[in-house]
Amino acid sequence: MHVLSAVAWPYANGPRHIGHVAGFGVPSDVFSRYMRMAGHQVLMVSGTDEHGTPILVAADAAGVQAQDLADENNRIIVEDLVNLGLSYDLFTRTTTRNHYAVVQELFRVVHANGYMVEQTTHGAISPSTGRTLPDRYIEGTCPICGATDARGDQCDTCGNQLDPTDLINPVSRINGETPKFVESQHFFLDLPALAESLGAWLDEREADGSWRPNVIRFSKGLLADMRPRAMTRDIDWGIPIPLDGWRDQPTKRLYVWFDAVIGYLSASIEWARRTGDPERWREWWTPGKADDGQVSYYFQGKDNITFHSQIWPAELLGYMGKGASGGEPGVYGELNLPTEVVASEFMTMEGKQFSSSRGVVIYVRDMLSRYQPDALRYFICAAGPETQDSDFTWSEFVTRTNSELVAGWGNLVNRTAAMIAKNFGQIPPLGPTEAIDEEILAAVRGGFDTVGGLIERHRQRQAIGEAMRLVGEVNGYVSRTEPFKLKGEDQRERLGTILHVLAQCVSDLNLILSPFLPHASNRIDAVFGGTGELTPMPRIEEVEDFDVDVEGLPESVPQARSYPVITGDYSGFPAWKSRPVTPGTPVSKPSGVFVKLDPDVVAAELERLRGDSPGAEPAAESGS
Ligand code: MF3
Ligand code: ZN
Repeated sequence: MHVLSAVAWPYANGPRHIGHVAGFGVPSDVFSRYMRMAGHQVLMVSGTDEHGTPILVAADAAGVQAQDLADENNRIIVEDLVNLGLSYDLFTRTTTRNHYAVVQELFRVVHANGYMVEQTTHGAISPSTGRTLPDRYIEGTCPICGATDARGDQCDTCGNQLDPTDLINPVSRINGETPKFVESQHFFLDLPALAESLGAWLDEREADGSWRPNVIRFSKGLLADMRPRAMTRDIDWGIPIPLDGWRDQPTKRLYVWFDAVIGYLSASIEWARRTGDPERWREWWTPGKADDGQVSYYFQGKDNITFHSQIWPAELLGYMGKGASGGEPGVYGELNLPTEVVASEFMTMEGKQFSSSRGVVIYVRDMLSRYQPDALRYFICAAGPETQDSDFTWSEFVTRTNSELVAGWGNLVNRTAAMIAKNFGQIPPLGPTEAIDEEILAAVRGGFDTVGGLIERHRQRQAIGEAMRLVGEVNGYVSRTEPFKLKGEDQRERLGTILHVLAQCVSDLNLILSPFLPHASNRIDAVFGGTGELTPMPRIEEVEDFDVDVEGLPESVPQARSYPVITGDYSGFPAWKSRPVTPGTPVSKPSGVFVKLDPDVVAAELERLRGDSPGAEPAAESGS
C-alpha cells in the first residue's frame, strides 16, 4: 500500500517541548517505521509552520525580523527531531518558494471554482498602535459556553471556533486594551457550499470504523455549524493573495492555517522533485495512481482536529470543484482526502499545562542533552496521551526508564549477550529443543502479528505493552531454565541451546521494538554481531530553495537561499518478521545499552523547573 504519513507542522515561534513530540512526532514515526517494515510505500512529510501571529509576536519581542526568527527556530527544531530519530522522508518548512507556489495554486483554483467568497469584516485593531490585533490575541467570554478565557479564534473550554466579534467583553492579550473593530475585505472559504461533500466523506469515514471515537464525533459535530471561514488576514507576514488588486497589498495575507495544511501536499511535491522524479508525489495523492492502494494518516493534537477534518478536506474539495458551486480541478487534478485524522489528547507536565512563560516546560533539546532519546520515546509510547490526557512526571520517567527499559529489556539483552560472550564468544548452534524452548520461541514470534496489528490500528500504548510483556516472558524463561547454573561439560549442549533460543528471542524482540526504540535497536544489533545499522535513521541535509514563480513575492524574501531538511534513505528497513540467527556470529559483552537513572534526577529536575524564570510573553501555541 502507499501510505502517506502526514505529521503536524510544529510552529517555528520557539523550540518545541516534549508535549509537542508526544502528541504527533513520536507516534507518527513509530507508525511509519512499522509500515515500512511491513512492506508498504511510506511517504512521511512535515515541516516547520512559520507564518501567523505567534512568529510575529515572538520576533517583535526579540527585536528581529519574522523570517530571521523562523530561520533560527527551524534549525533548532530540525536538529531536535532528527536527534529523536524521527524518520521523515522530508521535513521542510512553509517559507519555501515551492510551498508559496503550491498554496497560491490551491487558492486560485478554489477561488475560481467559486468557494472563496469576498466579504466585509469587522477586523480588530489596537487603538493605541493602529496595528491589527489577530484573533488569537483577543480574549473574552465565550458566547456559547460562558468560559471567561475564550480566545478570538477558539474557545478551549467548549472547543468551538469563534470569531473575535463573537466574544463578550473582548480585550487585547498583548496590552489589555479594548480592541477597535474596523471594516476590512476578506476571502471566506464557503463551507456551506462544501458541507454536503464534507458530510458524505465523514459518513464514509465513520462507516469505516477506524477513527478514534472522540475524533469522529467531534468532526461530525463540526458539520452542524458550517459558516464561511475567513482565509485571509490583515497581517504583513504570510503568503500573498494571488489575485489582481490583492497580491501587492503588503498587509493582506493568506491565513496561516490555510497555508499550513497545504504543506502536506507541497512537501510531497518538494520531496518528489528532490528525488529527481517530480511527478512521484501522485502515487500518494492522485486517486488510483498506486495499484496497491492509497491511505493517508494525519497525526495531530486534538486542538487541530478542525483544521484536518474540516478545513483541509474543504480546501481539497473546493480545489476539485466538488461542492454546490461545481468547478474543475487545477493542475494537480483530483486529490485524495484524508483516510484518518489520528488525533491524540494532551500531555501535561507534573499535573500542569505546559507553559513556556510559566516555566512548566522541558524542551526536547534539554531532554536529549541529559537523557537517551529512546528513554523519551519509550515514555511517550508507553504513557503518552494516545486516547486520554496523560501527565509527564519526572518520577514516572525515572521509574519507567529504570524498571521497564533498564531492568526489563536492557537486562535481557545484557545477560543474554554476556552469557554468550563468556561461554561461547559467538551464537551457539541449536541442539535438541524442549517444549519450554519451543513455547518461548513461538510466543515471541507471535509478537510480530499482535504488536504489528496494534501499531497499524494506532494503539501504540497497547502495542509496546505487549512487546514488553514478551520481554518479561523471556526473562521468565531465563529464570526457569537457569542457564547460568549449567557449568558441566555434559551440560554444554543444553547451555548452547538455551543461549541460542535467547539470542533468537532477543533478535525478534529487537525487531519488534525497533519502531519504538530505533537507536537501541541498532546498538543491540551491533552487540549481536550485526552492522549496527539494523534500522535506518534520518539525517539533515542542506538544500537550495527552488526557483519557482510566486505571485507578489515581497522583496524581503531572498531569491536563493539554503535551509536544512530532514530526509533519509529508508530503503533498508528490515522486514517485519523473524530472522533466524546464525550460529557462529560473534557476540561481544555489551556495555549497558540503556542508562540507569539516579533517583536524584527527580529532585534535580524539579528544582530546575522551579528555577526557570518566567518569560514576559504569553506562550502562544496556535496561529491566527
Ligand atoms: N503549527 C500547528 C501547531 O503546532 C500545527 C499545524 S499542522 C498543519 O499546532 F499541518 F496544519 F500545518
Ligand atoms: Zn466555549
